[in-house]
Amino acid sequence: MEKIPQHIAIIMDGNGRWAKKRGLPRNVGHSQGSKTVRKICEAAWNFGVKYLTIYAFSTENWSRPQEEIDALMKLLRGFLKDAEKQCAENNMRVRIIGDISVLPEDMITSIKHLEEVSAVNTGLQFQIALNYGGKDEILRAVKKAAKKLANEGKNIEDMTTADISSSLDTAEIPDPDLIIRTSGEQRLSNFLMWQSAYSEFYFTDVLWPDFDKKDLEKAILYYGSRDRRFGGLSKN
Ligand code: IPE
Ligand code: IPE
Ligand code: MG
Repeated sequence: MEKIPQHIAIIMDGNGRWAKKRGLPRNVGHSQGSKTVRKICEAAWNFGVKYLTIYAFSTENWSRPQEEIDALMKLLRGFLKDAEKQCAENNMRVRIIGDISVLPEDMITSIKHLEEVSAVNTGLQFQIALNYGGKDEILRAVKKAAKKLANEGKNIEDMTTADISSSLDTAEIPDPDLIIRTSGEQRLSNFLMWQSAYSEFYFTDVLWPDFDKKDLEKAILYYGSRDRRFGGLSKN
């Protein structure tokens, strides 16, 4: 493959429908979906992708039944527990984006620990969006940028888009080149709203638990066929 996106972001959708189709509880779909995450991390790295970001839990997902929220948090705890070993084995760096301050104390501690110990790793740069909402992130970033300007004795009128970009949770991460959404839905659902300004989009009907290396390859090939102009003129 010629053109490999440097950064792929994925809206992993369809876990519930995957389970429903099989007459199973939604939680089984989530646990199957978490297995897909591990496989796709490995596949993405093997294709030459440097940054992978996944949407695990949105600021709107708190409106789901408590039982489902608990099951999702349990899976995330399990991931955090195994992740240190996985990161060391695969030279992977993990960062969490989103507002983690409202999460239970034990989760915040494991997240901080994992981010710290994996920070030196130079393999796949893996971001998990957790209690993440694009609008919430932009609001927090604007407040942060405004405070910084005030501290420097500058006027609010001096604020630039670069000030906002560098105050986002993704400050050190390049914008996604390709955003994939599974399960046939074609919307952003509050994911990376600022960062997706010039992303390419790939939608597939495949449900997240069924998404595999071949599906990822198809998305990357599709990306390779796109002509990204960034508002300019085609170079071809
Ligand atoms: C995506 O699967 C996972 C999360 C949002 C956490 P869904 O749970 O949204 O699955 P569907 O859309 O109901 O099939
Ligand atoms: C988006 O999926 C959020 C995650 C994948 C974590 P949803 O299933 O929550 O989105 P909507 O409600 O269909 O837009
Ligand atoms: Mg969904």
